[in-house]
Amino acid sequence: MKNLKILLLLSILFINIVLSESGTYNGPQYLNGINAGYKSGWSNSDLGPLMGEASIRSQRMKFPCTFFKQWGYKILYDNDSFGSSKRAGQSNFTAFITFDQNDDSAVPSSIYQPIWLDNGKVNQANEFAYCVSQIVSTYKSDIKIYEIYNEPDWVSDWNVVSTWATNPPSNAQLARFQGDIFTYVRLLRISWEVAKSIDPTCFITVGGLGYPLFLDAVLRYGENSSVTNPSLFGKNYIDAISTHFYPMYGTSKTNSDAYLLAYTDLQNSFRKVTNKYNFNPSVWIVTETGVATKSGTGYYGSSALARNYFLKLPTISTLVGVCQNHIFILGDTNSGTDAFSNMGLFYDYQTLAKDKAVLKDSSKSLVTWDHHLFDKTLDSSKSLKGLPSGVIVYAYSNPSSTCYLIWVNSTNFKTDEDTTPIEIELDADFASVYNYQNIKQTISSSNNKVKLTIDSTPQFVYLDYQGPDSGENPSNSPIINFGFNLIILIIFINFIFFI
Ligand SMILES: *[C@@H]1O[C@H](CO)[C@@H](O)[C@H](O)[C@H]1NC(C)=O
Ligand SMILES: *[C@@H]1O[C@H](CO)[C@@H](O)[C@H](O)[C@H]1NC(C)=O
Ligand SMILES: *[C@@H]1O[C@H](CO)[C@@H](O)[C@H](O)[C@H]1NC(C)=O
Ligand SMILES: *[C@@H]1O[C@H](CO)[C@@H](O)[C@H](O)[C@H]1NC(C)=O
Repeated sequence: MKNLKILLLLSILFINIVLSESGTYNGPQYLNGINAGYKSGWSNSDLGPLMGEASIRSQRMKFPCTFFKQWGYKILYDNDSFGSSKRAGQSNFTAFITFDQNDDSAVPSSIYQPIWLDNGKVNQANEFAYCVSQIVSTYKSDIKIYEIYNEPDWVSDWNVVSTWATNPPSNAQLARFQGDIFTYVRLLRISWEVAKSIDPTCFITVGGLGYPLFLDAVLRYGENSSVTNPSLFGKNYIDAISTHFYPMYGTSKTNSDAYLLAYTDLQNSFRKVTNKYNFNPSVWIVTETGVATKSGTGYYGSSALARNYFLKLPTISTLVGVCQNHIFILGDTNSGTDAFSNMGLFYDYQTLAKDKAVLKDSSKSLVTWDHHLFDKTLDSSKSLKGLPSGVIVYAYSNPSSTCYLIWVNSTNFKTDEDTTPIEIELDADFASVYNYQNIKQTISSSNNKVKLTIDSTPQFVYLDYQGPDSGENPSNSPIINFGFNLIILIIFINFIFFI
């Protein structure tokens, strides 16, 4: 019996060690990350506190080779960019590597130099290969996922995309990338070989794609048009998928549930492609997504829409297998007029003192989500039965408590604000209900039922069976305390008798 226990313990330990060394993503089930953006007068180290105030847990950083060449590869440690982000609670960073800091699309001609020298070292004459080797050696303890370039599939005329079903994406079509699909696969190959040789546990992904047909091409072409051996196709040089999703382009509807349906549809289209090639990426992330908090010329936006999208996004992404969403962007740009200028989590802070940036009301939803759900995981084993149709509920649990995220589906309404509220009844003695601003309401029962009014904005609900607050803080409950002590006692007795 004793030996069996030890064996079991050892094998669990062993499995954990093996998993963490073979490139398994070990980040939390879900992370909100950010594209911090650049504002003159603000250094990255000034932004840590702002990201922390918005409860941002990860970050997608831009890593241009010429920038590191200019300032030294350690610059982002030396100047506290990472320090300030980590102090604010961030981990599992994602970086997108490009070559030229002034031109994201630039590709150096030296990529066709050999990657490796005869002595097994990376060939410095291949500038991109050398840069990747320096980046990964320097940042491997913080960065787990490397995107190669940004939106290489960006096109000015989306009609050309359909040609990619059968033809290779051409240099002329790829307006944001200086090369064709073969050039891109060459960059993936360099990155894969070099990065994995230094940190086998990191992940390499395409840079924030918008079109499943571009991924299809990555998976089926090699580094030049004469490659026919499938073991040299792009499929062999990535093990993660990164996409971008701006919901206003994904649907003409203007409510948060339609936005999330469009999110799911896009992810499913990408999955169809990976399935077609029997390719099973280890990690799926979205490195840009955003919603404008106000309308402007040619686009719709609202505070409720942004807030509700970001309250529902973690659940919907987890269901579709995405573990990080990086929000675009930290601050508004007052001088801009397009939707992207109004997607900030903060109002424009460009001209403000470092401690005067103002978090938008809609961003409080991120803080409240983090407070209640970051330390819990989506728990499909727990559900609430018998709710009226249109009411959506997801349970999140950790070992001590369960929180229900509950909202009314807004899909069939024009906007989130228009969505008709629904009254529900739940079996409990009390309910502790938090709104998106984390304002709490304690609801008492009558006939062992609590009544709640639900609308399109998710609420955080704890059901209390042992007095008010016992659902959220079970240690306050006398009965659970007793149970917990009993377990400790049993473990202790077990220990004494079996050792
Ligand atoms: C990723 O997150 C997990 C869980 O929070 C943490 O243990 C791990 O150290 C993180 N990894 C990195 C590289 O930040
Ligand atoms: C560190 O370098 C990066 C790149 O220039 C810059 O974005 C950041 O503001 C710098 N941070 C500090 C504290 O100098
Ligand atoms: C194309 O790539 C393959 C695989 O790396 C290589 O063997 C071949 O020499 C390349 N052909 C040309 C024309 O560059
Ligand atoms: C909302 O309703 C639509 C239409 O019935 C459905 O497809 C969608 O899955 C629902 N949303 C959620 C989050 O359940």
